[in-house]
Amino acid sequence: MKRLLEKLYNQNTLTKEELVYLLQHLDEESMKELFSYSRKLREEKYGKKVYLRGLVEFSNICKQDCLYCGIRKSNKEVERYRLTEDEIIQCCELGYDLGYRTFVLQSGEDSWYTKDKLVNIVKKIKSQFPDVAVTLSLGERDYDTYKELFDAGADRYLLRHETASKRLYEKLHPTMKFENRIKCLAELKEIGYQVGAGFMVGLPDQTVEDLAEDLLFLNHLQPHMIGIGPFIPHHQTPLKNERKGELKDTLIMVALARLLVPDSLIPATTALGSLDYRGREAALEVGANVVMPNLSPMEVRAKYQLYDNKICLGDESASCRWCIENRIKSTGYEVDLSKGDCIRIGENQ
Ligand code: 5AD
Ligand code: FES
Repeated sequence: MKRLLEKLYNQNTLTKEELVYLLQHLDEESMKELFSYSRKLREEKYGKKVYLRGLVEFSNICKQDCLYCGIRKSNKEVERYRLTEDEIIQCCELGYDLGYRTFVLQSGEDSWYTKDKLVNIVKKIKSQFPDVAVTLSLGERDYDTYKELFDAGADRYLLRHETASKRLYEKLHPTMKFENRIKCLAELKEIGYQVGAGFMVGLPDQTVEDLAEDLLFLNHLQPHMIGIGPFIPHHQTPLKNERKGELKDTLIMVALARLLVPDSLIPATTALGSLDYRGREAALEVGANVVMPNLSPMEVRAKYQLYDNKICLGDESASCRWCIENRIKSTGYEVDLSKGDCIRIGENQ
């Protein structure tokens, strides 16, 4: 075990067999050692900085039917909404005043927002706020759409791979194909986006081998950003009676992701904060270096629930902004309000 942890820290890679062995034999002591390595590497790469991103959830309409997700097409109980271009810009104006220099525009897979509508939104944000980064998180689109959005000024794209196991992926995504997911990620990277991948921990039927595949996938793709959160059942989905993912398991995955992709930006996810009162802080302490507070209008917050017990539903954007700052400071880390690009950028990738 000691040898594996040293190899992880020094060479930032492991074989599948080594990863499986590590996950199966990690006791309390070696877990502490893992966490101190991941924390050390994070501080070597990014110091004590934690970057903030303002998250605008602009539509909860989705044509896909992912079994785990609260806004899946088949959920007829959710009240659906779409923000207009003006409403999205207003969120960014508020966010800019709160100090955010990255806006993450996230939605369900909603074709109402055509390529042209999205291009206009991106152009408008980038012309009104030339010093911000725009991150998109809109799901699967075609190459042309990704390309035109990039040319319009979008900087980054989040598209979690969700699980690297084709078997599990296709069980959970009856309307989607694993190969297409991988193709989208490759296209985004080729176009020049800073790309985010990532997965859920504790999905029903997810094995240690599956998690090892997720980590290997990240090690091969070397994404700029990595979102990892626990699976949390949503009461209006087919997975409502399944068990949720564990805090400890999720933290182990965050630490391993840091060691396997040393220069990545890793958010302490809202799902972790929803699972445990200090889940996000715990993630920051083992290698995460980003937090994405909510900037969506209060009226729509509760309608964008991918899982149960989501935090911040009743909190104004401004209170999330200050809440998060205090939480970050409580870990001994410091808020960094710059755009916060991946440090690999400028090194030709
Ligand atoms: N529990 C945890 N995370 C979820 N996501 C979607 N549904 C759930 C759930 N029930 C995650 C997916 C998606 C991201 C936006 O939220 O990984 O990519
Ligand atoms: Fe929203 Fe703490 S981040 S209330």
